[in-house]
Amino acid sequence: MQPFTYDALTGRVVFGPGTARAGLADEVSRLGVSRLLLITDTRAASLARELAVPLGGRVVGLFTGVQEHVPVTVAEAARQQAAETGADAVLSIGGGSATGTAKAVALTTGLPVIAVPTTYAGSEVTPVWGLTEGERKTTGTDSRVRPRLVLYDPELTVSLPPGLTAASGLNALAHCAEAFWAPGRNPVTALAAAEGIRVLAQALPLAVKDGTELVARSDVLYGAYLAGTAFGTAGSGLHHKICHVLGGRYGLPHAQTHAIVLPYVLAVNLPGAPEAAARIGRALDTADPAAAVQALAAGLGLPGGLRDIGLRGDDLDEAAELIEPAVPADNPVPVGVAELRTLLRAAWAGQPVTDEAAVQAAREAAVTAEVLASFAGATPPRYKELAQSLVRNLHAFAREIRLTQEEWQFGIDFLTRAGHITDDRRQEFILLSDVLGMSMLTIGINAPTAAGATESTVVGPFFVAGAPETPLGGDIANGAQGRPCYVSGTVTDTAGQPIAGARIDIWQSDEDGFYDVQYPDGRTAARGWLRTGPDGGYRFWSVHPAPYPIPDDGPVGELLEAAGRGPMRPAHLHFRVVVPGYRPLVTHIFVAGDEYLDKDAVFGVKESLIVEFTEHPPGPAPEGRPMSGPWSRVTFDMVLAPAAERAT
Ligand code: BEZ
Ligand code: FE
Repeated sequence: MQPFTYDALTGRVVFGPGTARAGLADEVSRLGVSRLLLITDTRAASLARELAVPLGGRVVGLFTGVQEHVPVTVAEAARQQAAETGADAVLSIGGGSATGTAKAVALTTGLPVIAVPTTYAGSEVTPVWGLTEGERKTTGTDSRVRPRLVLYDPELTVSLPPGLTAASGLNALAHCAEAFWAPGRNPVTALAAAEGIRVLAQALPLAVKDGTELVARSDVLYGAYLAGTAFGTAGSGLHHKICHVLGGRYGLPHAQTHAIVLPYVLAVNLPGAPEAAARIGRALDTADPAAAVQALAAGLGLPGGLRDIGLRGDDLDEAAELIEPAVPADNPVPVGVAELRTLLRAAWAGQPVTDEAAVQAAREAAVTAEVLASFAGATPPRYKELAQSLVRNLHAFAREIRLTQEEWQFGIDFLTRAGHITDDRRQEFILLSDVLGMSMLTIGINAPTAAGATESTVVGPFFVAGAPETPLGGDIANGAQGRPCYVSGTVTDTAGQPIAGARIDIWQSDEDGFYDVQYPDGRTAARGWLRTGPDGGYRFWSVHPAPYPIPDDGPVGELLEAAGRGPMRPAHLHFRVVVPGYRPLVTHIFVAGDEYLDKDAVFGVKESLIVEFTEHPPGPAPEGRPMSGPWSRVTFDMVLAPAAERAT
């Protein structure tokens, strides 16, 4: 048994045929309220009037402006009527939209809600509210909106037309199914959900065929109640995210949308949720729950496809894009835009879930689920997280672009060639990381949040351990060709205090744009390291750096060429600063005015790292050096973040 946390839903439920007619007045008294705003929908209006008779003067207002999806304007009108009538409670008699409107009033007024449902919405036991503004539906959870008292009277559902009975029954079944993978799931919600599915599937056919069949009506209402409790605790998952977009954005009818979409969501999710598949399968007495639910819906006379309830085929791609950000991260199988498109297309056309597309989707999902599961026991936990996320995203990439075997083989060959060209002096994988922006992205993710700390940039492939030490003021050029350049500055902490003894490694190109390691003769030039003095200062001579192409004679060069991207990097000097107690800093200084500053092949340029290099004529120069030719000079102060400082 997995550990779990369960906030049980409270509230009084009175269940039984005749409860509404015989018990409403007493139950209202028991609750201690006396000024009711009665909210009802068009279908239940006359029933509501009848049920209100025993309440007499306790009904102080009647609101009949209920609309599906609870438009904000309707909510406002109901709230205003509650205020004007001095209501101390809201009584909703009707379907999910009446309950939803009552909840909207409770959301801003805190008034208690009494619900007498006449459909199988199930929302009367949940703390979930929903409002629609324009085309967008917003939902939320607030314990104040959950009705304090619910009277379930199967007699009130007798007049529910077969189409509505079927659709709202399937809607309830969707609530149950979703409770197996929604974020707040627990063993108790799973129990309620499994039992809900069982009674609903068993009773719905008769309740639809013969609406007056009170036993079947009672069972469906009981199933809807179980569905509401499961959903109210477990919350919503993939299925609801899809239906909310379809309802809010395209105005599709709520219950029918649920009924149509559910089999497709089951087909996608169950391969990744074996426990749910087994339990739903047992409840439905089938080995193929998705197909069984679709067959149940068809048998109840429900429309099979979203196109039958008014969704345009042109809207499918947009819908997939809108839904994608809402897909829960822990959905049993990874679902991105590509998977949503496939699902929506199938649901739009009403394809049988066991047809080729669904079988295909299930086959793909099963591979991903199996690989994810193979890492389930990986340790440490961070390794598991990394491995599973990599698999999830890599598989989603393959599915999204429908990766061909030739393309994947090309990718493998590409990496193989990158491996073959890599040695102690050439690192093609770092280059790949750089040109794909991964190096800068990782740096950005991990950047210190300490205000004022010097920004980092790519390390690149040319850092070499074991470079020679240079005294303060010494020359690291060691024969590298180029105009002499004097570099100085300070290293301080974020409070401006000097940091003495910090190790600074420097490496750079010569005037031809080559690093020493790119020459075949094994030279060490234009690289070295030194320590800051007691005042945190550093200074050294080197050569003026030049712009250069990153090595482009390997697979990474092919990639750049295919993209029409140049290989050039603007002129720069590399620094790596390390000292105990501070975050290591790996950065560059870029030469202001360089023509490649805005098209760096590796995206490494940051505004704060662009520095003016001043040019000087021959003559006396720092460190007592008489210069016979022109030389340049740059000053760059670096600020280190404290070691404890971590990106959050
Ligand atoms: C470099 O600046 O040394 C460098 C960075 C990324 C790729 C290639 C070179
Ligand atoms: Fe470089």
